[in-house]
Amino acid sequence: MHLVTLFDWDADLIDATLSLAHRLKAQAREGRLEPTLRRKTLALLFEKSSMRTRVSFEVAMTQLGGHVTYLSRDDVNLGVREPVKDGARVLARYVDGIAARVYRHQAVEQLAAHSAIPVINALSDRAHPCQALGDMLTIRERLGETEGIKVAFIGDANNVARSLAVACARLGARFTIACPEAYGFDQGFLDRMAQVRGTIETVHSPREGAAEADVIYTDVWTSMGQEEEAEKRRRDFADYQVNAALTECASPRAIVMHCLPAHRGEEITDEVLEGPRSAVFDQAENRLHVQRALLQMLMS
Ligand code: CP
Ligand code: NVA
Repeated sequence: MHLVTLFDWDADLIDATLSLAHRLKAQAREGRLEPTLRRKTLALLFEKSSMRTRVSFEVAMTQLGGHVTYLSRDDVNLGVREPVKDGARVLARYVDGIAARVYRHQAVEQLAAHSAIPVINALSDRAHPCQALGDMLTIRERLGETEGIKVAFIGDANNVARSLAVACARLGARFTIACPEAYGFDQGFLDRMAQVRGTIETVHSPREGAAEADVIYTDVWTSMGQEEEAEKRRRDFADYQVNAALTECASPRAIVMHCLPAHRGEEITDEVLEGPRSAVFDQAENRLHVQRALLQMLMS
């Protein structure tokens, strides 16, 4: 079994992952983790920078008795030095799982198609499913539920927004995105969402998006690989900052989330990120708890 996008994972599987993450989190706190991945190796095939994803996978593997091997773009250069399908087949003979962070989503799809071992998408230009799983765990912990809540994403319809939208659809949350006209979800994604009966509301007013929201979520305006557009994006998203005035529109119990790294003063203010509604550091911690559950489910 792979985790390429959450479209391939149904509600029961996501729910089981979150429940296991919750149990392993308690076990880790009590020092009772079992070495369920003893002598297993995870390859981290990373074409882009990472701190949270890389470290949480490494620590999770160590804590479960396993090991990782980190392969940067310079080491492997998959798709250039050799076809992805060759790399996938060779790696599958050495290691027990692959977590891949890639520029092109097709690369992770190809890895999964040609690999006899589990492949986990550790971020592509189209999806960041591990992030969304950690986020749903955080929402459950903070709000006690996901069913029927309103999640408002203020910003670009990027990889993080897409995976969060699918996770919300799976777990019964309503998803609204507030973004400039040219930065919404593409029709292909909306059609796919309709197939899984996920509803997405798209608005262009951040205040309308944030109205009565239980979760206000944002991410950088310029994702990795889009650096050339940074200047233009800064102008286009200037009115979409998550600041104190915007959070006032939300429900009184609302939490603020950001996958990090954040650009303080751009998509979110320092005041909100450090404020009482901010869940961002618990959210970052939960990446580790979800990573353990994912690895145990896919590799043990
Ligand atoms: N949120 C997240 O994936 O962070 P990294 O890019 O540091 O892994
Ligand atoms: N959307 C961001 C997320 C980083 C964790 C990016 O792709 O760069």
